[in-house]
Amino acid sequence: MSVHRGREHWRSRFGFLMAAIGSAVGLGNMWRFSYLTAEHGGAAFVLLYVLMLFFIAVPILLAEMVIGRGAARGPVQALGFFGGRAWKSLGAVFVAAGFVIASYYSVIAGWTLRYTLEAIFIGFADDPVGHFTRISSGGEALAWHLIFMAGSLWIVANGVTGGIERTAVIVMPLLFLVVCGLAVYAATLPGAGPGYAYYLNAEDYFAIFSPAVLADAAGQAFFSLSLGMGAMLTYASYLERTTNLPLQSGMIAVADFAIAFIAGLVVFPLLFALGLAQDVSESTLGALFITLPKAFLELGLVGRAIGALFFAALVVGALTSLISLLEVVVASTIDIVDWDRRRATIVTGIAAAALGVPAAIHLPVLDAMDQVATHILLIGGGLALAVFTGWRMEDPESEVALGAGHYFWLPLWRRILRYAVPVVLGLLMLQSVPRTIANVIALFD
Ligand code: TRP
Repeated sequence: MSVHRGREHWRSRFGFLMAAIGSAVGLGNMWRFSYLTAEHGGAAFVLLYVLMLFFIAVPILLAEMVIGRGAARGPVQALGFFGGRAWKSLGAVFVAAGFVIASYYSVIAGWTLRYTLEAIFIGFADDPVGHFTRISSGGEALAWHLIFMAGSLWIVANGVTGGIERTAVIVMPLLFLVVCGLAVYAATLPGAGPGYAYYLNAEDYFAIFSPAVLADAAGQAFFSLSLGMGAMLTYASYLERTTNLPLQSGMIAVADFAIAFIAGLVVFPLLFALGLAQDVSESTLGALFITLPKAFLELGLVGRAIGALFFAALVVGALTSLISLLEVVVASTIDIVDWDRRRATIVTGIAAAALGVPAAIHLPVLDAMDQVATHILLIGGGLALAVFTGWRMEDPESEVALGAGHYFWLPLWRRILRYAVPVVLGLLMLQSVPRTIANVIALFD
């Protein structure tokens, strides 16, 4: 079977790992994870999230890598390759999800870029609330969105090894160092203690056990690991068949959780030390872009430097994530219409940038896109992928075993995909889809 028709390969395993971690680590870790944890009362949510991450999301991560590497194609063709024509439509849904997420993700990424440059050159604004309101929607938000999108597209246009891998091997280790350094700094602040308590000691685990919180934990696990729309599938399609996929997926998941967790060790001590704890509990989409600058402002010149580093880390995370979202769309376009990479990048990039325009000029649109993407597209995509790998693929275990050997738990993995994932995600979707639709409608009232 000549599946690997001269397709580009990662230059090194480290390069793949950094690119995949780069995809996973992003706004999800340093913005979404903190605000969801705050919204759902702290430590108990963290625990729930870890359970979702390792029992539901990681098996799907492995499934995506198996499909991608096995077919050596983007999601549409890969699902067709293993499942026949009908399954190609699932790949098409993935590509559509890639468009949606990339477009609003780039808007938020644009905010982070602006905050970074402001911190460096002029300092944080005196009224963080007014500032966020001014910059988060409208013409300027649109301009920063377009700038960020253009930069990301430029990297994707340079190819898998020449653009994506080259960027990731440089910036990801830096990001890790910066985030760890910030956590150490936060620990030195007087009054940080209650922040750790809020983040790490759950009073009552059962109080938060609602379907809505479970759905948020699951949605976040998928979002953070870049699952449910073929991003990891696409990156794995550039792997050699000698790679140990379970090992890689384990390392990606651990690194992704570590960065989210360490980012929490920056955010919570900082907010509590500066008496901004009450802002945390009513956290919403924009909260971190308001409360963190408040904290940085109060810390004077040091705060400005720390803030610049924090937002720069967000920029880097967002950049390596956005390029993975765009790569799904670009790789599929190359597979299907046989354009060269440059042309595919320009055409799909213009489309994604245009789709981001409504999100950039009206904040509720952005919020709505995020809710629909995570609660419906990603969870639905993960569910469909589990069914596909569990029931439709003939022998996914053998593809795992290539490069890894026969792990004793392989049959268990298959069973998780067959039964556990569909049941858990199916039940969650039954109640979260109507609620998401209601939420989205309420946003526009
Ligand atoms: N995982 C990234 C984050 O946490 C976002 C992201 C990149 C993503 N690629 C994705 C989310 C694919 C869902 C699907 O910020």
